[in-house]
Amino acid sequence: MRSNIITAALLAASAVNAQTFLEAIQKQPELSIFSTIIASLNNTFMDLLSAADLHTVLVPNNKAISAYMQKNDIKSPADIQVDKVLPFLSYHILLNNISSELFAAPGGGVVETKLKSEDYALLKNNSGQVIYGTKTPHVEAPQDKADAISIKSGLGEMVNIVKSDLTYNRGLLHIVDGFLTLPSNCSKTIALRGAERLVTYIKRVDLLDALDGTPGATCFAPSDAAIDAAAPVLMNMTDAELLDAIKFHILLDPYYTTDLKDGQKIDTALPGKAVTVNVVSGDYYFNGIRAKTTNDIARNGVAYVLDGIMPYEFDGTVKIVSSTSSGSPTSTVESTSTGTAAVTTTSAAGTGSDATGTTSAPTGTTTPNSASAIRVGCLSLVAGFTALMALF
Ligand SMILES: *[C@@H]1O[C@H](CO)[C@@H](O)[C@H](O)[C@H]1NC(C)=O
Ligand SMILES: *[C@@H]1O[C@H](CO)[C@@H](O)[C@H](O)[C@H]1NC(C)=O
Ligand SMILES: *[C@@H]1O[C@H](CO)[C@@H](O)[C@H](O)[C@H]1NC(C)=O
Ligand SMILES: *[C@@H]1O[C@H](CO)[C@@H](O)[C@H](O)[C@H]1NC(C)=O
Repeated sequence: MRSNIITAALLAASAVNAQTFLEAIQKQPELSIFSTIIASLNNTFMDLLSAADLHTVLVPNNKAISAYMQKNDIKSPADIQVDKVLPFLSYHILLNNISSELFAAPGGGVVETKLKSEDYALLKNNSGQVIYGTKTPHVEAPQDKADAISIKSGLGEMVNIVKSDLTYNRGLLHIVDGFLTLPSNCSKTIALRGAERLVTYIKRVDLLDALDGTPGATCFAPSDAAIDAAAPVLMNMTDAELLDAIKFHILLDPYYTTDLKDGQKIDTALPGKAVTVNVVSGDYYFNGIRAKTTNDIARNGVAYVLDGIMPYEFDGTVKIVSSTSSGSPTSTVESTSTGTAAVTTTSAAGTGSDATGTTSAPTGTTTPNSASAIRVGCLSLVAGFTALMALF
């Protein structure tokens, strides 16, 4: 009883002392342009925050907004059109009170936002679009924080938190050095991330709409180099084979890296066929094929660009592909377990870039049936999409 009274008194006191969102941003000189934009929108932005729920806001600093306006030839914040800016700003509002610790934790964190416009969020249960935050590797901490944090949004784009965990009465705000990028559908995302060739095959079998229109999916996209290397095989495949292959490269739920565990098996869109996840030295492998990009947020889920084409069969052997910070291609160094590798991935360019590097598609090695393994792997590419068409 007594403690209830004390709690109530404390809550009342904190409510009196707590600053509103506007008060909080007005105290930060580097957020003055953002304040101006909010003001020019009258209540439209504040209405997004005014619900009973807690929210965390990623607020771009003056430098970020100036650069954005210059790039897009916007002369004044007043020129910004409300209908265009609202989805954009909604994406910067995270649900709940999200401290930077969530992102700094090993593996990072995925957080839902207020972005629900169907143009940018096609997820199950009408969920809001997400962002992925993680510790930035090899970057000096910007302030007194131990870790710099990057936020990944659409098209693989990242911004950094330059000042974190400022409080206001309904949550937190983190100052970022750029605007988030609105997500696009899966095909556009993978094309921009280094898997444009795959999209050509998808188009050829007329599966683009099925791929991009599936709510909440994971798209595994073999890189351009992987597709090039497999071209002779791909050319020989029937549409039905291509269909299965593409289907095998799709998961019917969005699996961000935070959902993945070493050794996990996940069913693909190809009935009866699962893919095995391996996590080695922070890199993600799917049926032994390394992801060169991860958590590329797409309108209808998440995309990964792969160093190769996933083979249907996987014996559990992961060929480790190390990437140097300089981005120069490096060689395969070891395998984690015994047994013969069905697939050899020879090298990869630095992570996080769109460089195609010298990655090869899977090629047969020691197993006598490796040729068919390759074939099956390539099949798995193009075929999945046809399968999708049958699905939807
Ligand atoms: C904000 O309010 C002013 C004055 O009522 C009005 O002229 C202006 O169009 C409003 N702006 C927006 C974005 O609604
Ligand atoms: C949000 O979380 C922080 C700690 O991360 C806490 O200090 C703050 O009081 C919380 N805000 C609300 C409104 O619950
Ligand atoms: C995917 O995005 C592209 C580019 O924005 C667009 O032309 C296409 O209609 C979209 N497809 C779907 C199914 O939304
Ligand atoms: C493609 O098919 C042709 C004709 O059947 C065959 O000669 C060729 O070896 C095949 N190429 C590959 C890469 O399987």
